Amino acid sequence: MTTVIDNFNAHLLEAFPDPVVLLNRAREVVFANQAAHEVLEANYNDRDLAQSFPVPDVLAAAEAVVNGEAIREVDISLSVPVPRNLKIRIVSIADAVAMAEGAVALMVFQDISSETLAEQMRQDFVANVSHELRSPIASLIGIIETLQGPAKDDPEGRERFLSIMGDESQRMARMIDDLLSLSRVETSERLRPQEQVNVIDLLELTRELLIGRAEERKMELVFDFAADISVLAGDHDELMEVFQNLIDNAIKYGREASSVRITTGLVEHIPEIGGAGIAVAIENKGDGIAPDQLPRLTERFYRVDKGRSRKLGGTGLGLAIVKHIVSHHRGHLSIKSTLGKGATFTVYLPL
Ligand SMILES: Nc1ncnc2c1ncn2[C@@H]1O[C@H](COP(=O)(O)OP(=O)(O)O)[C@@H](O)[C@H]1O
Ligand SMILES: [Mg+2]
Repeated sequence: MTTVIDNFNAHLLEAFPDPVVLLNRAREVVFANQAAHEVLEANYNDRDLAQSFPVPDVLAAAEAVVNGEAIREVDISLSVPVPRNLKIRIVSIADAVAMAEGAVALMVFQDISSETLAEQMRQDFVANVSHELRSPIASLIGIIETLQGPAKDDPEGRERFLSIMGDESQRMARMIDDLLSLSRVETSERLRPQEQVNVIDLLELTRELLIGRAEERKMELVFDFAADISVLAGDHDELMEVFQNLIDNAIKYGREASSVRITTGLVEHIPEIGGAGIAVAIENKGDGIAPDQLPRLTERFYRVDKGRSRKLGGTGLGLAIVKHIVSHHRGHLSIKSTLGKGATFTVYLPL
């Protein structure tokens, strides 16, 4: 490196974890810290920035700053070696006395990939929620118009329409409840639950809540509890939500008149948890889930068959909530399925 930058300044700039580059008036690289070696192409020493970082927007901004502009910021996306988004800030240091002769501009590279991704996810989420709430509202508006007009003097039609309105409103209410659950779990995710809960008691409670729905589909809920440990540190309401969602799905997507098996057991070593835990498995017979769909099931609003889920009053948020709650408990959710046979959802909770 040239003598342009003295030892003290070089040490200072090396201490920055982000890439830092100094340019002279000719837009040549007179210094690059260690972190910058990863973003610049080789042989940058005393050469025009265009040789080592050939990105037109950045070069134009650097040109402006070495010619006297105070500051420029450019956001760029790079696809190699790995896709990432960078914010590049170029600041004039022409007036800084401490900087040795030659260097007139300081370039700092900041990796904003994770912020960009988070922002993208937030936007997608808002778009999804709006879309999901829009369809029941559109159907309510349509029905109200029909009731005010064509179906005004049709008592039979009115009954039918009111019943649809009831279903759609309830689905909207469920969606909002699920969204609230999701945000509650997300807020609490950092703190591990401390209450002592008995998994078997929770499953008994869930049975009482869902037995009616199972009977409607002529299904049987078969419980098989191992007699070993069932008490662990957890959140009562959250775990109720997990079991309710999974057993409800098993009833909804299971074959009519088949049985749903719910088993608990102690597992000495669960690799994903790195220790002992309790496994609760919920198994149903039915169409099952194709292997390529399995990893997507816990995404918000993801349903294999949108129309079917909607008809059954689903929100597509159940498994997303389950996944968050399980991870809040530092547990693990496993989903196994054979097409045409059925599916098994297993929740592992650490002891
Ligand atoms: N036991 C199951 N068998 C087959 N498919 C299932 C089962 N559980 C969930 N799924 C699929 O996963 C999707 C997402 O489930 P979930 O998040 O609970 O949403 P919802 O039940 O509201 O549709 C469902 O729409 C369904 O396609
Ligand atoms: Mg569900």
